[in-house]
Amino acid sequence: MANIISNVALVPGIYVMKIEGKFKGEMGQFYMLRSGTGYPLLPRPISIYDIGEESISFLYRVVGEGTKLFSQLQPGQEIQLDGPFGNGFPQVEGSLALIGGGMGTAPLLLAAKYYPQAHVYLGFAQHAFGVEAFEAAAASVQVKVGGSIVEEVDPALYANMFSCGPTPMLEALALKTAGTSSRLYISTERHMACGIGACLGCTMRTRGGNRRVCKEGPVFPVEEVEFDDLHGV
Ligand SMILES: Cc1cc2nc3c(=O)[nH]c(=O)nc-3n(C[C@H](O)[C@H](O)[C@H](O)COP(=O)(O)OP(=O)(O)OC[C@H]3O[C@@H](n4cnc5c(N)ncnc54)[C@H](O)[C@@H]3O)c2cc1C
Ligand code: FES
Repeated sequence: MANIISNVALVPGIYVMKIEGKFKGEMGQFYMLRSGTGYPLLPRPISIYDIGEESISFLYRVVGEGTKLFSQLQPGQEIQLDGPFGNGFPQVEGSLALIGGGMGTAPLLLAAKYYPQAHVYLGFAQHAFGVEAFEAAAASVQVKVGGSIVEEVDPALYANMFSCGPTPMLEALALKTAGTSSRLYISTERHMACGIGACLGCTMRTRGGNRRVCKEGPVFPVEEVEFDDLHGV
């Protein structure tokens, strides 16, 4: 169990929780979080948003019971967390774009800190959130509220792209990238139970065969992704 330093709403339904302690983790990895109440039984996977010498932070949206309980936790209360899990984004050379949609912006902040020269594209349906953190980290940040952020990205300009967001956004970016030499890596999502590769509950069909999103993912090169298997998750 770890002590909660702060847990604040950025906009309605979207919170940043900062937790005290020394934690490990790389860009694109995640932790399994569980409130101390014993319910729900299973922890929830949440990407590392930010990490410091004495703390770790998570950006999360309230969608169901688990995340609602997270949002009710107060500074000074405790939370259970295990990790880091997953492969995370790869280390790359050459120009890089980071393209996030909504909650998919969460795993990209650490990448922006690691690659401050990266061009950052952030898309939101209604309310932008967390933009200041990207502006503090990266040289170039473009924000779009409403419409598709993919329209603003020219994949031919970038040797590499990291992306996370709703499946239609990822699929549109993949289509736009096809035929260019840009290497696109996307972070995928699945319901998870164990988070450590044991239960097979997060198995996803890829062009290379079945993969566990918690273990071989959540980040995959776009060539491996079967978008049919991402829709509806
Ligand atoms: C690797 C990974 C990293 C993630 N990082 C973040 C993050 O940084 N911030 C964040 O807010 N969320 C993140 N998520 C999603 C988050 O885990 C779910 O929103 C959370 O588990 C929902 O729990 P709940 O109990 O509140 O909702 P539930 O009651 O479990 O579900 C509520 C609704 O959300 C849907 N849902 C639940 N889990 C997922 C999922 N994994 N993918 C798609 N839909 C889901 C359910 O189908 C249902 O409609 C991540 C998921 C994965 C797999
Ligand atoms: S969540 Fe159990 S194998 Fe991935």
